[in-house]
Amino acid sequence: MRSSIEQVLSTYDDRAPLSQASTIPATWYVDPRIAELERLSVFSKTWQLVARTDQVQSSGQFVATTVAGEPIVVVRGNDGILRAFYNVCRHHAAAVVTQPCGQAALLHCPYHGWNYGLDGSLKGMPEFEGVENFDRAQNGLVPILVETWECFVFINLDNHAVPLAEFLGGLVKRFVPLGITKLHYFDRRTYNINCNWKVFVDNYLDGGYHVPHLHKALNSVLEYKQYTIENEDRYCLQSSPMVSSEMDAATSATRQGDRAWYFWQYPNFMINLYQGYMDTNLVLPDGVDRCKVIFDFYFDDVSEAAAERNRQSIAVGERVNDEDVGICESVQRGLHSRAYGAGRLSVRREAGEHLFHRLLSEDLKRGL
Ligand code: FES
Ligand SMILES: [Fe+2]
Repeated sequence: MRSSIEQVLSTYDDRAPLSQASTIPATWYVDPRIAELERLSVFSKTWQLVARTDQVQSSGQFVATTVAGEPIVVVRGNDGILRAFYNVCRHHAAAVVTQPCGQAALLHCPYHGWNYGLDGSLKGMPEFEGVENFDRAQNGLVPILVETWECFVFINLDNHAVPLAEFLGGLVKRFVPLGITKLHYFDRRTYNINCNWKVFVDNYLDGGYHVPHLHKALNSVLEYKQYTIENEDRYCLQSSPMVSSEMDAATSATRQGDRAWYFWQYPNFMINLYQGYMDTNLVLPDGVDRCKVIFDFYFDDVSEAAAERNRQSIAVGERVNDEDVGICESVQRGLHSRAYGAGRLSVRREAGEHLFHRLLSEDLKRGL
């Protein structure tokens, strides 16, 4: 007989200290009921990255995307206020905004031509004379919470969510001296990976454990033994001093500075910083066995003169990610095996995974 979802959740002990803890059970990575519970109680309740602030700088600029299966749109109003709405027409539910980003004076539904203002209010409905008991004021686009932090726009589908700054906690202060406002968006890469989204996050949060084995070139510029792992609030910072190395010319030319900083913010957002360089990773579930990971690359210099160096830097990032993708897909196959139930955690390396698993478990148990 199949275990109930309560039984599946109860098999993880979220009170065990790291030295006694195991990973969350394999079932959590392969059971579609867990994926659905995550959609409702993790992705529909946490602040989710949806855009960069430079994409919605001036009035009428918008970004449309999907969060936890919900079509949403973020748009800057004529009054300068940034707003977010469900991108669902109040007439017959078509997506009002059909481009992923752009600029518009009005939000115009392509189905029957209803128009909404940039503030979401319903402005006009063709051929609607004679319709009784219809209150136009009650038929605007349905609003969603939206806030910005640094160059990032976040939304939250939960109207009772804590403010973004409170959700990010200590991360906000931590970022001030890092000066990421000096970095500018350059390019994006998107990966479709055959693993549960949590496998990708776990791999990120293993405290460099896999780096000497899987990423030889990257390892050559990190001082692996000095690698630190700090948990606070809902984030984990992994950091390593950097050393110069001749082993791989492209890596040493594009991964520079005194330290590498790797931030993960619960549940699915990472920020990686080197001198003059940042990439962000957004991990999006796509069913229980797949995920999509969006890498955005930022550099201090995005002029034409720096384009070649920046492309080389992205290529280094892509190589590291290719190494990660292969192992993540291997892990997903292993999680389906009858031979595996859960694994133990390295006290020296895997505190970040422990934090992730406890936060997730808390949200899932609360969501039941
Ligand atoms: S569904 Fe939008 S106008 Fe009909
Ligand atoms: Fe890796």
